[in-house]
Amino acid sequence: MEPTAEPVAPSAVTLQPGTTRSRFQTGAEQGPIHIRRVEAQDIEFAARVALEAFHDKVEYAVGKSRMDAAIELTTSILHRSPQLWHRYYVALYEGKLAGTMVIKFHDDKLVCMGYALMNTNIGPTQCYVDTVGVDAEFRGKGIGKALMERADVEARQRGCKSLFLWVTQNNRAVRLYERQGYVITHSFGGWFTGWASGCRDWYNMEKNL
Ligand SMILES: CC(C)(COP(=O)(O)OP(=O)(O)OC[C@H]1O[C@@H](n2cnc3c(N)ncnc32)[C@H](O)[C@@H]1OP(=O)(O)O)[C@@H](O)C(=O)NCCC(=O)NCCS
Repeated sequence: MEPTAEPVAPSAVTLQPGTTRSRFQTGAEQGPIHIRRVEAQDIEFAARVALEAFHDKVEYAVGKSRMDAAIELTTSILHRSPQLWHRYYVALYEGKLAGTMVIKFHDDKLVCMGYALMNTNIGPTQCYVDTVGVDAEFRGKGIGKALMERADVEARQRGCKSLFLWVTQNNRAVRLYERQGYVITHSFGGWFTGWASGCRDWYNMEKNL
């Protein structure tokens, strides 16, 4: 099956290390970070980084000894589901695969991490940002920021008015999201969420476009 054809947004250009381009200029990335939709050769990396970035939650769900099996299974499912690839992005740093992100729009049939939190309600003008993960070796270089900006570009192109994400309250990434214009709208969680995801205390964060 061919991946779903959908207009491709121009490359999101962020103010990358060592460049002076405005974040609104598109199509001519100059810095070390390049973001594109996932391709077949990226699948194993995307599955590994996504699961490793959330290793505490994945280990909680499948058990520590089954982590490798979970990565293999995710890789194999993704290989067999090219119709989903248009929602998966990878970030390359100086040409090396470094990070991944999944976004989801209203009515997308896409199983992502948010399902552990029963996240099925994405409004017609909303974009849900899921599974932002950067390989440990590449963290702190602006890749997470660039991925978030790519989500903004995709959401705008789709006509969305806002983006939202869910993050555990003690995750340092909250600061990154705040710098990207997200605000905490409410806390949620409790015993059921703790049972389903391994963590009881979550924030819903939103950004208006
Ligand atoms: C969160 C994450 C995607 C950020 O990517 P990055 O490329 O390191 O981010 P940037 O370089 O653009 O920005 C740095 C910011 O990322 C966040 N960050 C950095 N390392 C992090 C880590 N190990 N865990 C969580 N957040 C981290 C911090 O907010 C940091 O800013 P600070 O130094 O002021 O605290 C990445 O660190 C990661 O994969 N973490 C583990 C998975 C995770 O927690 N994902 C988010 C779940 S909602």
